[in-house]
Amino acid sequence: MPDEQDFFVVRGQVESGDKRGRELGFPTANIALRDQDDVVGDGVWAGWAERADGTRIAAAVSVGRRPTYYGADGYRLLEAHLLDFTGDLYDEELTVWLGEHLREQRAYSSAEELITALKNDVAAAAAWTAAHPAADLPDPGGPRLGEVRRLRRP
Ligand SMILES: Cc1cc2nc3c(=O)[nH]c(=O)nc-3n(C[C@H](O)[C@H](O)[C@H](O)COP(=O)(O)O)c2cc1C
Repeated sequence: MPDEQDFFVVRGQVESGDKRGRELGFPTANIALRDQDDVVGDGVWAGWAERADGTRIAAAVSVGRRPTYYGADGYRLLEAHLLDFTGDLYDEELTVWLGEHLREQRAYSSAEELITALKNDVAAAAAWTAAHPAADLPDPGGPRLGEVRRLRRP
């Protein structure tokens, strides 16, 4: 977990997920992570995503292995659910800032329980992004695709 001073930032190309997110009502842009468990741990975050055209959109972000569906065997990925956004991000390069750690990953016993948690995450992400505008984000520098970088808060 970061200390309060830190942001994490990841840049990556959006891969196609298994479309379950759409069924749950929370579509996600999925980004593969290089094997860097020591930089950012698994968890759920409030943050911002920047599209290729420079637009910044508030996001609720999951880093982990989707234990509800894959036990401990899933591969580790970053999934960003963009708030108030509809559209296709497939293949686009996205930069994602992780600003506030909201909770740990959990294995839920039903899709309904996961959906309840996702609703809370979205509300928390909306509150955090309202208080931490996109214009104040630290410069991401030039992370390699899939690489997680730790940034000092400006
Ligand atoms: C904000 C957020 C929090 C999440 N938290 C969890 C979690 O605690 N446990 C879990 O198994 N999956 C979690 N997920 C991942 C969902 O299981 C995943 O997005 C869903 O299965 C859809 O996968 P897909 O994008 O491959 O279709 C989270 C996703 C988001 C966007």
